[in-house]
Amino acid sequence: METTKKPRYGINSYEEWVEREGLRVAKGISLDLFEVETADWPRYGVKAAVCQFAGSGDYNNMFVIELPAGGSTTPQQHLYEEIYYVLEGRGSTQLEFSDGRKRSFEWGPKSFFGIPLNAKYRHFNASGTQRALLCETTTLPMIMNIFHNDEFIFNTPGEFSDRFGDEKYYGGEGDLYMVRPGNNVWETNFVPDLATIELTPWEDRGAGSSNIMFVLADGIMHAHISEIAPATYKKAHRHGAGTHVLTLTGDGYSLLWDEGKTDYTRVDWKHGVVFPPCDGQFHQHFVTSENASRYVATGLGNLRYPLTEKKRRISFAKDGQKQAVSRSVKEGGDQIEYEDQDPSIHEIWLEEMRKRGITPRLTLPVPAGVR
Ligand SMILES: [Fe+2]
Repeated sequence: METTKKPRYGINSYEEWVEREGLRVAKGISLDLFEVETADWPRYGVKAAVCQFAGSGDYNNMFVIELPAGGSTTPQQHLYEEIYYVLEGRGSTQLEFSDGRKRSFEWGPKSFFGIPLNAKYRHFNASGTQRALLCETTTLPMIMNIFHNDEFIFNTPGEFSDRFGDEKYYGGEGDLYMVRPGNNVWETNFVPDLATIELTPWEDRGAGSSNIMFVLADGIMHAHISEIAPATYKKAHRHGAGTHVLTLTGDGYSLLWDEGKTDYTRVDWKHGVVFPPCDGQFHQHFVTSENASRYVATGLGNLRYPLTEKKRRISFAKDGQKQAVSRSVKEGGDQIEYEDQDPSIHEIWLEEMRKRGITPRLTLPVPAGVR
């Protein structure tokens, strides 16, 4: 038997799609989204870029969408999920339901929202003089690699009305589910300002840490916001790839490293800097000012729909043990307690604090075995 066809092996349908779309690609371990160069994206009718991070993983990607002054996207509809964050500018998003109803909500800097799966939507810039810059984390890589069919993904009618949620969810209201630290959920579709949303304590992740988990538009995507107390830092931990950490407020930096290594990759914080840690890579976030710092993280699998065994393991307490994401590696978890970390990590931070003239508010416990 003979064939003249070339073998089609090892296809990444998502990467092929990016090429077909002619999208501008930005690559890096981390990227400052304000600095990412955008180019015309005919599908959206505006300028855009797609980010390809070292730690993007297989399931998620991130787009940067730039709405020109007075501009809007063309209407969109697709079978992948997305969570938006507004980097700068003001505008609105209009959803159109199959019964003809329309629903709009207005966003501004640091707004955060989910679009219900396959809902028809369109973004408008409210300013006639300033651009609006948005980013979105999506499940497109996963969906494209499953179906590898543009027509199906972008042009299938029908909607998931069970995901629209309560009417108040588009007004910035929501429902709070208090379960336990690290498992508290704010369900909504729209958060007006991530800088001011109230968080709940999660001391296991570090002195003065607080957070809230989100369920947006009843989707399967992960989203949470964390705050680190002034002049302190969180404990290191690890999890799967694709959790896009976006720094929101405050001054600081993060360190990333592979297990057993001490050659730390450092990412300095600035609003709009994004870095998804690689699969299983330890990472740790440090504040170097008298102000609290916040970041938001988006990825795959949340507390309502964890989706993977890995996500269940890190997210839920089981058999009387804390969830792996906040349990010591010595107890089979994925967190490094302060007393077990490489001493140079604390020294690097103290040096940064000295340089800035900030008094540290975190004293380490005595390491195990040291008197
Ligand atoms: Fe993390």
